[in-house]
This record gives sequence, structure tokens and C-alpha cells, in this order.
Amino acid sequence: MSISLSKLAGTIGDSPTLKINAKARALKAAGEPVIHLGGGEPTYPAPQAAVDAIIQKAKSRKIKYTPSSGTPELKAAVLDYTQQHYGRRYEPAHVIISAGAKQALFNFLLAAVDPGDEVVFPAPYWVSYPEMVRMAGGKPVIVRGRQGLQVQAEELLRAVTPKTKVILLNSPCNPSGRIYGEDFIKTMVEFAERENIFLVMDDIYHQLVFDGKKTPNPCAYAQEAKNLVIINGVSKLYGLTGLRIGWAVCANKELIAAMGRMQAQSTSCNCDLSEAAAAAALKGDQSCVQDLCRVLQENRDVLLQEAAKIPYVKVEKPEGTFYSFMDFSHYNTDSNALAQYLLEKALVALVPGVSFGAEGYLRISYCADQASIVEGLRRIRWALDKNAPKEMKIGDKLLTRD
Ligand SMILES: Cc1ncc(COP(=O)(O)O)c(C=O)c1O
Repeated sequence: MSISLSKLAGTIGDSPTLKINAKARALKAAGEPVIHLGGGEPTYPAPQAAVDAIIQKAKSRKIKYTPSSGTPELKAAVLDYTQQHYGRRYEPAHVIISAGAKQALFNFLLAAVDPGDEVVFPAPYWVSYPEMVRMAGGKPVIVRGRQGLQVQAEELLRAVTPKTKVILLNSPCNPSGRIYGEDFIKTMVEFAERENIFLVMDDIYHQLVFDGKKTPNPCAYAQEAKNLVIINGVSKLYGLTGLRIGWAVCANKELIAAMGRMQAQSTSCNCDLSEAAAAAALKGDQSCVQDLCRVLQENRDVLLQEAAKIPYVKVEKPEGTFYSFMDFSHYNTDSNALAQYLLEKALVALVPGVSFGAEGYLRISYCADQASIVEGLRRIRWALDKNAPKEMKIGDKLLTRD
């Protein structure tokens, strides 16, 4: 008989996005002409300043443990970034640097949530939220809007109970690309402060916005801001997903200190090379961010243009991120089965909507190059069109659909 694992291990599922990445990578490695529109990482190269900082640090031959909650240099860079983008001056004791926004959020949940506490967030949501809340012993409370992909403030607030400890928001949203409006954010910040509930803003995409739009600034509506937690990182902003550097900022020193204890007792500290690189990226030339937004906006427009050629697919125009969340329920209400079908028959990797809490949808990323977007959508159109020829040639590979 094999040794038993923890009850927790039995309840926590795989990350569907990481799983699809692994599958697409394996197919590619096996020589299959896969189009990967399932990913969550921009393909552009790392900023030169970050690369130089890593080389310089490595050449010093001092690659050591760093202060557990982040180097003073990186904390200072994050505080400057926060002042510039949120107009509020925080102190070093208000920030913790972690191994990605993901660990920052996880540390927060461990530090703030007791067993049975409720964490309220809207669907569609980032795939990891429910599992992370459960790992911390909390209860995910998922709110679905009655209309469209964006929940209304009243709908979200109706889900709040005396057990609610946290409201968790992500804007622009992975997977919908939608941005919450000014009134929505104002209502949430004021409500959370009045009711003494944590409001977590997962702002990892806050600068990746299109058509001249801006994400509303939650700090503008906060008084003491002791329960407003802003999470961010370098993964999406600079395409530095591999550094694993993110952070949390909050005016509540006790919270940040508790998050620091969680981190000190688990990972000890962040990677020395990564912290140097992240600080350099934050302090370096920021024109790469505007360039990225321009490219992503163009990619989005190409994607929408190609998607419009597939009958019955419904899409709300993404206002930011590099994802679109499309309703394919006309073809199959089982998004897992549809994603599997498209991967097998058309060799296009997408993420099923059910992983984001919205069945019948597929998430399509547009951080790939435009040729891949056009080709991927062409293949999806072919695979779903019952009147199209049964076979399609891709190089020397023959695809056959049902
Ligand atoms: C909404 C959201 N939050 C957090 C993260 C995690 O970012 P990081 O790479 O900094 O851990 C992601 C990554 O996909 C995300 O989409």
C-alpha cells in the first residue's frame, strides 16, 4: 500500500494554464506545428538594463541570501514606481518583495485568512484564485455577473457576509481583458475601508491597457489605506516572467510583517540575481512598456478581426492584458472538450473557460506574433466549420477534423 498524502494535496488541482503550456511545449518538441495561443507570457526580450544587472551581479561572484522581504534597492524602486503610478508615498515597511505576484498574493492569504473566512471575487477569475484561497484555509466565494463578463458593484457587494475577510479584484482582468470603471473601484475601496475588509487589487496588468484607457487608481479613494493591498510585479510589464519577482504594497505594517514571516519560514528570501534585475528594469528606460502596449493593441485588433470571421463566436473587446475571452458555446458548451478537440485536430493550444469559472468560453492569448494569431484563428475556423474540407495541409502535416 502506498503512503497517504495530505488531505490538502487531494483537494488542490493542477494549474490549467501551466498544464496547457507543458502540453503545447511537448507537442512542439515532438515536431508538431502547434500554434500556442494559451500562454500567459509576452515573448519580447528582457530589457537590456535587467540583463546588464544580472551579468554585473554574477561577475561579482557574490550571489547570496538577500534580506527576506526584499533588498533595500528593489524596495526603493517599487516605492518610487508606486508613487509614480498611484500617487501615494509608502515606506519600506509597507512593501514585501516575493517570488512573483503569485507568492505575494499567497503570503497575503496566509497572513490574513483564517479557516472558514470568505474571500469574494468575481468570475471569470484568474485560474489560481480558488485554489490559493483553499490552500490558505479560506472559502472562495465566486460572484457571477448577470450580464456580460463584468460584474456590477452591487452584485459583488451582495455576496459579502460577516465572514468576508477579503475582496479580490484583478483589473484589467485575466481572462476577459476588461477594466473596472472609476465608480466601481471607488465603491469597492470605500466599502472595504468602512466595513474593515481587505481589498486586494491584483494589478499585474495595470499598465497593459489600450485605446488610451487608464486603470482607475484605488489609492485615490483610500483614506488610511491599511486594508488596501496592491499586488504587482515585473512578469507581464517587462516580460520578465522567469525572474519570479513580484510584490505587495499596503499601509498596514503588521500585515506586511506577517507576510514577511510567512516568506522567511518558507522560501527564506528571493533570488539575489532576480532582485538586482528587477530593480534595474524598474529604474531603467520605460519606453518598452509603451512599445509593448502598442504591439498588444495591434495584436488584439488582428485577433478580433479574425474572430469575427468565425460565426456565432461572441467576444467583448478586451481593454487591456493580452487575453480575450470568447464565447464558443454555440459549438460546444463543454470548454474542456472543445479545447482538447482544437488541440488534437487543429494543433491550436487554448485554455478552457471552465478553468476561469465560465463554461462555454475559451481564453485566447494574443501575446504571440500576429502570424500565429492569424494562423491559429484560421485553423479554429476550419475545425469548427462543418462545411469546410475534412482535411487541411500544414507544411507536410495533414490535419483531419471530425
Ligand atoms: C491575474 C494574475 N495575477 C498574478 C499572476 C502571477 O504573476 P507572477 O508571474 O508575478 O507570479 C498572473 C500570471 O499569469 C495573473 O494572470
